Amino acid sequence: MYLKKLSLINFKNLEQAEIAFDRRINCIVGDNGTCKTNILDAIYYLSMCKSALSMSDGQCVMHGKEFFVADGTYVNADGRNEVISCTYTRGSQKTVKRNGKAYTRLSEHVGVIPVVMVSPFDSALICDAAEERRRYLNLFISQFDSRYLSTLIRYNGVLAERNRLLKISPNESVLQIYDMQLAESAAVINEIRREVCEELGGVVARYYEKLSGGCESVGLEYRSELNITPLDVLLKASRERDIINGFTSSGVHRDDLLFTIDGYPLRKFGSQGQQKSFVVALKLAQCQIIAERCGERPVLLLDDIFDRLDRGRVVELLRTVAAEEFGQVVITDCNKERMVQVLEQLGVEYRLMEVSHGAVVSGYEEDRV
Ligand SMILES: Nc1ncnc2c1ncn2[C@@H]1O[C@H](COP(=O)(O)OP(=O)(O)OP(=O)(O)O)[C@@H](O)[C@H]1O
Ligand SMILES: [Mg+2]
Repeated sequence: MYLKKLSLINFKNLEQAEIAFDRRINCIVGDNGTCKTNILDAIYYLSMCKSALSMSDGQCVMHGKEFFVADGTYVNADGRNEVISCTYTRGSQKTVKRNGKAYTRLSEHVGVIPVVMVSPFDSALICDAAEERRRYLNLFISQFDSRYLSTLIRYNGVLAERNRLLKISPNESVLQIYDMQLAESAAVINEIRREVCEELGGVVARYYEKLSGGCESVGLEYRSELNITPLDVLLKASRERDIINGFTSSGVHRDDLLFTIDGYPLRKFGSQGQQKSFVVALKLAQCQIIAERCGERPVLLLDDIFDRLDRGRVVELLRTVAAEEFGQVVITDCNKERMVQVLEQLGVEYRLMEVSHGAVVSGYEEDRV
């Protein structure tokens, strides 16, 4: 599925916009603080029912306005139009509709139009706490495995209940029930994460080699206590400690991913550009795995493509995403000349849009598609 037309009302600084996209490579160029990232975020929102930049729904509404509307017209594999519509009014629930029909559960929409975004904010994925990497993994796997998402929701629900109980009155028999439920869900989550990470590690290494011209090699390892010991055993062993601390100290909510460069932790020993290259390789690998598993190539959003990458790596990145196995790509850059130069050098066909503050000023018309 690819995005043919995006219509926005009051989405961040876009008061009213209608933007047409090409089915393959689209470039959005414009100065700092115009609306490039906001457009990508709106596209992400239409797929994931939330902002990519940890902004609340209220923060996505234009300052001083009461609501926003984001509509996307997509073309599916049969060539038919599908319309996804998201609306949010301050102080009320958001609504997401597919072809006019509202979802009762937003989680049902996740994965319908897979999306992958590369953003300068991804540095958090490498430098921040494990929670960031778990969030990444969850959003990634949820897009092609609905069983994973429903199990995760169940796990988080029981975990919250267990933590609440630990804080008030730890009742032995109720704890036992929670532990059993947690262990059951955790086993499923652990197994899926393990299997996905095993594949992911190999694909990331290949993309990284491509981007870097084989300068360095990277690795990815899934770390979980559950790789060795089942959760019911861990929970039993840590029960007393959990009662004293008032929270659950073992489980898949403690998992992490370890990224390495030439065998050393990337977080400590990777340069800025190497860390960025890793993130890009990770996201390209994510695209490949999602495409394989759900038969739908994700919309790839490359925000600020030159961020921390040298020209050689940007050229390799664009060469890679211009190849057949990738679907629709939307790229942003603040320097039009630089962007056009690289695309022309590669001989890639593309659609160019220029933006100013809160508006697309050229290249957005539908008849050009
Ligand atoms: N809810 C909102 N209401 C109004 N304006 C907003 C809202 N949220 C963000 N903005 C503004 O939108 C503008 C454009 O932001 P955006 O991140 O899209 O810029 P950009 O073109 O990606 O710039 P850069 O090249 O610096 O990354 C910013 O000035 C930002 O403050
Ligand atoms: Mg930006």
